[in-house]
Amino acid sequence: TRFTADRLLLFGATGDLSKRMLLPSLCALDADGLLDPRIEIVGTARADLDDFSFRNFARESLEQFMPAERRGGMATFLNRLFFQPLDASSTEGFDALAAKVGTPREGLAVFLSTAPSLFEPSIQGLVASGLANERTRIALEKPLGTDLTSSRAINDAVASAFPEERTFRIDHYLGKETVQNLLALRFANVLFEPLWNAAHIDHVQITVAETVGLEGRVAFYDDAGALRDMVQNHMLQLLALVAMEPPISYEAGPVRDEKVKVLRCLRPVTVGETVRGQYRDGAIGGKAVPGYDEELGRESATETFVAIKAHLDCWRWKGVPFYLRTGKRLPRRTTEIVVQFRPIPHSIFSGRGARTVPNRLVIGIQPSENIQLSLMAKVPGLDRTGLSLRPVPLDIAMPEAFSGPQRRIAYERLLLDLIEGDQTLFVRRDEVEAQWEWIDAIRASWLEQGLEPKTYTAGSWGPSAAIALAERDGVTWHE
Ligand code: BG6
Repeated sequence: TRFTADRLLLFGATGDLSKRMLLPSLCALDADGLLDPRIEIVGTARADLDDFSFRNFARESLEQFMPAERRGGMATFLNRLFFQPLDASSTEGFDALAAKVGTPREGLAVFLSTAPSLFEPSIQGLVASGLANERTRIALEKPLGTDLTSSRAINDAVASAFPEERTFRIDHYLGKETVQNLLALRFANVLFEPLWNAAHIDHVQITVAETVGLEGRVAFYDDAGALRDMVQNHMLQLLALVAMEPPISYEAGPVRDEKVKVLRCLRPVTVGETVRGQYRDGAIGGKAVPGYDEELGRESATETFVAIKAHLDCWRWKGVPFYLRTGKRLPRRTTEIVVQFRPIPHSIFSGRGARTVPNRLVIGIQPSENIQLSLMAKVPGLDRTGLSLRPVPLDIAMPEAFSGPQRRIAYERLLLDLIEGDQTLFVRRDEVEAQWEWIDAIRASWLEQGLEPKTYTAGSWGPSAAIALAERDGVTWHE
């Protein structure tokens, strides 16, 4: 199944993801000579476009979403684009689509970037028209269902036409450079791994904070909420990468085997270990923003913030809480992982300035890409009462450490891997299902207890209950 696709079929080609991410990423890959020079990309959607008007649409998207200095190969790229209108919910039209796609020399990669309700009919159409064969692989964008049952139904529909080795489930966080760097940090260094366990780590914090609100995704977001939109996928993937055992090699099978083990030992959380929140009007960066209800145009009980104290029932992490939090309309856009080590077992220092602070590793995923390790050091000077100590950061700014290489956005990595058939950074069926199982239990307990979201002011770090969740354990969220 390791063929290079020389044809790409893009469902949802006129959609938001295509405009912002997929077309620009493909253009960048092409300009850098990373695509088969004969590649052809067929877009499809309901829109009444032809090759010419789709190329115009693509040009406008690239001009809007690609930095000018990266648009060098645009003209060549646009010539690779074709378009076939299609209503994927009806079986008609797939034969014309198949004719447009033609016969690839090596293989076809299909990318479903549509509403999940179109996944099943699209797959049926691909099968009926002969487009789904052993030289075809398929990529699916989230949301992959809204709970375990619906996710299973999607996975079953996909599996009826595509074996797991040719199914590529996207979690775009895995395509981020800094997320992959987590594995480099852990498994390409000898320093951390011996300490990476309950004996030396007190707790872990994972924060994914956003300043944006609804962004016009009214229907989708209000049905989903922060738990399903962010925790089920991105945050649990980050947690799995932080917590997993060393895989036997950096390959799709071994890496995903280890991640799924972590996901399976997530302990069901109690309602008291979760906080739901929803923002009210406030201000971010000095700019007034409306509340969720106002943006939505009605009242809603959907959460825009979640905090969870999670536990892993396994040997390595017994007793180490993983505090997760994510939300919209928080003060800053930041994704980071904080690994808080335990205190030293005994201090040999005494005197006024001799208090030691436990070491802490902060891994900045975005927007700042940095790794910061706080170490205790002696304050210079002649203190008569003994050594004075203070924490100092060992700080690596990734953009400085690597000023040469071009920074790649997640979809460049993921599209290249899809085309080449490498599944390491895609989510396997057992992972998604383990993620849903844990999330479903949380939702069920919210429902059972009638847990309504607590309000928070836009521009704050969420409801005060989220702060209390950590403080009860003597933990402060890192800011
Ligand atoms: C998406 C969510 O999966 O991830 C969005 O649906 C969220 O709500 C986005 O804004 C965040 O992605 P990133 O790459 O900007 O951190």
